[in-house]
Amino acid sequence: MIQVFNYIADIQSFLNAKRDSGYSVGLVPTMGALHEGHLSLIRRAKRENDIVVASVFVNPVQFNNPVDLEKYPRTPERDISLLESAGCDAVFMPSVEEMYPTQVTDHYDFGSIEHVMEGACRPGHFNGVAIVVRKLFEIVEPDRAYFGEKDFQQQAIIRKLVSDYNINLEIVPCDIVRENDGLAMSSRNMRLNAEERAIAPMIYKVLHETTANFETMSPAEMKAIVLKKYSEIKQFDVEYVEIADETTLQTVTDWKDSEHARIFVALQLGPVRLIDNLRIY
Ligand code: PAF
Repeated sequence: MIQVFNYIADIQSFLNAKRDSGYSVGLVPTMGALHEGHLSLIRRAKRENDIVVASVFVNPVQFNNPVDLEKYPRTPERDISLLESAGCDAVFMPSVEEMYPTQVTDHYDFGSIEHVMEGACRPGHFNGVAIVVRKLFEIVEPDRAYFGEKDFQQQAIIRKLVSDYNINLEIVPCDIVRENDGLAMSSRNMRLNAEERAIAPMIYKVLHETTANFETMSPAEMKAIVLKKYSEIKQFDVEYVEIADETTLQTVTDWKDSEHARIFVALQLGPVRLIDNLRIY
């Protein structure tokens, strides 16, 4: 039976007892409205740790858009039963007051990796992510924490946080989980209407098709082709398409300058902002 905790002191005493018995702890941080992508992280964490904790907390300080925060889907009862069915041992579901009893003023600087793509389009977003993730790490003290690669840049920020502050845990990157039609799973997908949902898989299809023969074109040509294909879909309002090095997250202008390059996209489809990415090589 999954245990549900709303208070920091309670989950800490539960975990302290487990650690005293020598158990390892895996953490899967989420904002709820769970889908198969989250559950695959839980199952992996369960294979690699004795105890798995999920957090479900819609973190207000990482939303730069108040409407997005207000409309973010919240399905707590469903989340608890999905977590239980995936083998999760405990879920931490704090209130905003429990997480932030006083106004949050921390300011992080992650350098060049935070000034591109999501960081450029969503001012303050990664600062808010770092604030909550660091707090979750301090509360749960996991041996391992699991993050999906759909938020590839977020993962780079969290790795830098862990290294800058000598936080003693392993970050485990997990592949993007896609629907059968290729759409990357996201809690925001449930806000798409039927027409938008039918078009949404084109985000991935275009990336997949265009990157297949990457050697036949330059990064700039690839970006132009992807932008042109997206512009033919009238419902897509593209925010950015970037081709970046996986380690530095800086733009790749010549394939030979990057060991691993990845293409990233953010676009608005109806009321929903969607992101995706794909390793080119
Ligand atoms: O990726 C998310 O769902 C969130 O950014 C995270 C890591 C749970 C922090 O709120």
